[in-house]
Amino acid sequence: MSEAQAIDLAVIGGTGVYALADLADAELHQPVTHYGAPSGPVRVGMIGERRVAFLARHGEGHSLPPHRINYRANLAALKSLGATRVLALNTVGGISERFGPRVLACPDQLIDYTWGRISTICEEPGTDVLHVDFGEPYSRSLRQQLIAAARSANVALVEDGCYGATQGPRLETRAEIARMRRDGCDLVGMTGMPEAGLAREMALDYACVAIVANWAAGTGPNPDEVITLQDVLDNVAAATGQVGKLLTVLLEP
Ligand code: HPA
Repeated sequence: MSEAQAIDLAVIGGTGVYALADLADAELHQPVTHYGAPSGPVRVGMIGERRVAFLARHGEGHSLPPHRINYRANLAALKSLGATRVLALNTVGGISERFGPRVLACPDQLIDYTWGRISTICEEPGTDVLHVDFGEPYSRSLRQQLIAAARSANVALVEDGCYGATQGPRLETRAEIARMRRDGCDLVGMTGMPEAGLAREMALDYACVAIVANWAAGTGPNPDEVITLQDVLDNVAAATGQVGKLLTVLLEP
């Protein structure tokens, strides 16, 4: 497979999504970019008749915490392989009532609470300073394609929502989530930024499907409940079949 062949869709998998079950004949690529190495190998294979690339954001063995991910290298690696459309799968906590565990959502807004991450490709002296428009942080056209695919696949997908990106790797306090709710966040995750902003700077068509793994701290029917990694992984595993169905329809010829 030559690198010049276009990739129809690149998928970045989050916590609990370390492979795409339907990816056939996958070849491993290890691109090294101007920004360094991505989180791990990029698998390029076929879903139906479409070429799809997959990258596990935290590494295949989940070895990278959110603040250590080289977001620039990940996106640059996918772009160098010929991707222009990037679907980010993000495992999140649900804050508002519509976003309980196992819900899939396609957010249309975000708020960035992260800090200390390299959040632009305009870092080095001599690079052009970009002030990209980010009023609508996710690609309108890719969101529309995802929403249409979900409808026709009969996959329940909440078609909007505001993603709040926190620093992690710890989970949030109840007060932090209460503040985020007041700010208008519906979902909370640790990896939505700077990825979305960098994708815009790199002119990639980028959208997110968030997989709700738990009620965020202090929310839901048992606000005192402790959030465990096992619950997170179990809920993501339970939802990935629906993500696969959505992808199959999204990639239909
Ligand atoms: N908070 C932040 N990130 C997350 C959560 C959460 O509750 N669940 C899964 N990722």
